[in-house]
Amino acid sequence: MPDTDTLADLLIAGGTVVNETTRFPADVAMKDGVICFVGHPAFAPRAKETLDAKGKLVIPGAIDVHTHIREPGMTHKEDWTTGTRAAAAGGVTTVFDMPNTEPAVSSPEILAAKREAAERQAIVNYGLYGILDERSLDHLEGLAAAGVIGFKLFLGNTTGNNPAPNDGAVLEGFEILAGLGLRCSIHAENSPILFWRENRMKAAGRDDAFAHLAARADVAALESLSRSIVLSEWTGARIHIVHESCMRSIPVIRDAKARGVPMTVETCPQYVLLAAEDLTGDAGRIARLNPPIREGRQREPILQALLDGTIDILGTDHAPHAMEEKQRPSFWDNACGFPGVETSMRLMLTLVHEGRMTMEQYVRMASAAPARAFGLWPRKGVVQPGADGDIAVVDPAQRHVIRGAELHSIRSPFTPFEGMATVGGPVATIVRGRVVMRDGKVLDAPGWGRMERPQMPKPEPRNLATTTRAILRPGAQPW
Ligand code: DOR
Ligand code: ZN
Repeated sequence: MPDTDTLADLLIAGGTVVNETTRFPADVAMKDGVICFVGHPAFAPRAKETLDAKGKLVIPGAIDVHTHIREPGMTHKEDWTTGTRAAAAGGVTTVFDMPNTEPAVSSPEILAAKREAAERQAIVNYGLYGILDERSLDHLEGLAAAGVIGFKLFLGNTTGNNPAPNDGAVLEGFEILAGLGLRCSIHAENSPILFWRENRMKAAGRDDAFAHLAARADVAALESLSRSIVLSEWTGARIHIVHESCMRSIPVIRDAKARGVPMTVETCPQYVLLAAEDLTGDAGRIARLNPPIREGRQREPILQALLDGTIDILGTDHAPHAMEEKQRPSFWDNACGFPGVETSMRLMLTLVHEGRMTMEQYVRMASAAPARAFGLWPRKGVVQPGADGDIAVVDPAQRHVIRGAELHSIRSPFTPFEGMATVGGPVATIVRGRVVMRDGKVLDAPGWGRMERPQMPKPEPRNLATTTRAILRPGAQPW
């Protein structure tokens, strides 16, 4: 008779575990949502359910720190059901949801409403961002106490039209966040430059993909990145630069990191794989996003920076929209973004198949580094006893052709990767010990996903005596 105390819930048998620095054949067992065994099959516990992983790789599930799930307020694009089903289909076990929903997440009350919607539906784990803007400055502590995974700062205007805060407000926000220790993800494009140039393009009658690229030129990203670094370095606020797209940013990032600026950086498959010059006509409409896909020559430097760790994290900027929002007559009225959470792993494993990156590097950028940056390590990001049972089982030889119409983001059935042939993909997704996707079929598990709260290292604020609050505190000396 099996001893029910040691009977695991799930055993993944016969696979090869790949973590960011190791690879070894092992069985993996989970009980009560946590990995309880990684080791030789002869010593594996019996389990209620066994998943055969012969010839497969067993990796920590991807953690996508950049998704737009859209609920509340924009559920004609996506909701917590479709968004997390798409994640499960793509081997993603945790998504972080951006706060540019309707309403934007600027207070604990708004966060609570979003959490309630997620709790009922999510089949993968989730972190919820709060927004850092002029409205939310007085709510940052409240949002932190309510368990946000971090904050999002839109320095560049995009979907949701959340105006970029004044630099004074950003500085004050960073002063507060430095004390809290939470990370602030930044959309680093200079808003005044974007608006000015877009208006110049429009006034000249331009209405095309290249004008969009020109309006959001590299320099706008470079300026905003540099300003973010200055404010982070001064205050000690931890920052995360999302969707890095410019090769010219790479030396700036390297320099800043070498000086000890507490920053991490992300890029997305589209900046590694797509080229502006290939995206004319309808393809350009589908691929329109912010920041834009740049010239093809920028791809390799971005990939190399991702491989050498200058860029830490692979996100997706999963940004679903309704089809009609992508087909408006004027290019300028076309919604920015496209779904990405479901296709990212397949696209990257294709690079692994081609020998352009290793599986270990993929695990680092897609799971380990995100977990470390956002206070989830070592509970997530690694397959080892004691860690959460969040796992993707990968078939490195699986062949697939990406089709927008087959995505689980069913209200957003398009992708700029349409027709692309991929090699390597997830065959099972396991969230806290429960199989939520198997052989491409997403299983019903609404509400199984759990909200993830960060456990960040001790805050390390800098220049404390110069903060607005320190100066305004009664009796404080302003020098
Ligand atoms: O293209 C984009 N779409 N870029 C962003 O930063 C936001 C996103 C969205 O929310 O649609
Ligand atoms: Zn985004």
